[in-house]
Amino acid sequence: MIRKKSILISGAGGEVGSELIKTLANRENINIITLDTHPITSQISNKISDQITGNILDKNLLDQINLEYEIKEIYHLAAILSTRAELSPDIAHDVNVNGTINFLELALKQSRSQAKRIKFFFPSSIAVYGVNNNKVCTENEYLNPITIYGANKLYIEKLGLYYSEHYNQLSNNKDLIDFRSLRFPGLISSKTIPSGGTSDFIPEMWHHIKNHKHYDCFVDENSRLPFLAMPDAINAIIDLMNSGHSDIKSRIYNVKSFNPSASEFYNLISQIFPESKISYTINHVRQKIVNSWPNDIDDQLAQEEWNWSAKYNLNETVNNYLLV
Ligand code: SER
Repeated sequence: MIRKKSILISGAGGEVGSELIKTLANRENINIITLDTHPITSQISNKISDQITGNILDKNLLDQINLEYEIKEIYHLAAILSTRAELSPDIAHDVNVNGTINFLELALKQSRSQAKRIKFFFPSSIAVYGVNNNKVCTENEYLNPITIYGANKLYIEKLGLYYSEHYNQLSNNKDLIDFRSLRFPGLISSKTIPSGGTSDFIPEMWHHIKNHKHYDCFVDENSRLPFLAMPDAINAIIDLMNSGHSDIKSRIYNVKSFNPSASEFYNLISQIFPESKISYTINHVRQKIVNSWPNDIDDQLAQEEWNWSAKYNLNETVNNYLLV
């Protein structure tokens, strides 16, 4: 049987997945296969060759995918986000860790059968950090997450390095994968309102103010996190995955653009929607999580190793992306 050459995307129906598919479908002349627990919406289903509805924890399903496809690259986006993960840490661990290990194993089998390292993209997060004051974090400091989500992401980063550099090191078998990861800050999309995340207050604020002219914010007005506009997040994934092997020395990178506080973001967008109003009803657990994340990160490593730079600053994000 000839296996179909493909790119595999898990969590494809999520807000990053759907935008990534649109961009990849325009650029790459290769089959895109998706795996998601829900059917993919009609706007992107026509860009996909095979849509598989199923769970990343289903090893039989992954074995079947392994037999049927020659997978050239994997984008493993399926995850339970930070706030939702705190509601059921055991399920979060299962999906975010065990599900990802299933995918790392799939990548390894594909690397073996193709005799080349399969590129594996993993979205990590600023949730890997744990800081209690206003630190600007570089990649190797303050790795003390207070959430199960952050702990899961940090562990998978370590496994990704292991599968890329040292897997099964006592044996002669030297099959490895090519793991590449971005520690995403909050993301803001013009298309979707995220759910289950802790950085959701900025994108929720935009969509609620635009559509309903009121937003009840779940963290205080001084809450400040780093952010990226969705097109920059997608470009970052594509640039990272297209960079040459010799450029990718560190494998795990911070990326960011702007970092307004909740009130600074509100002040900016209320100039566009002058009749808007904001209120603050603080959720203390979500506030504690936000306070544990850095209010800025340093992305110099990505600039140095693969020439990363964000195109959209805060004003451009609002005026040339969200409003367009
Ligand atoms: N934006 C994500 C969240 O808030 C963090 O990676 O859960």
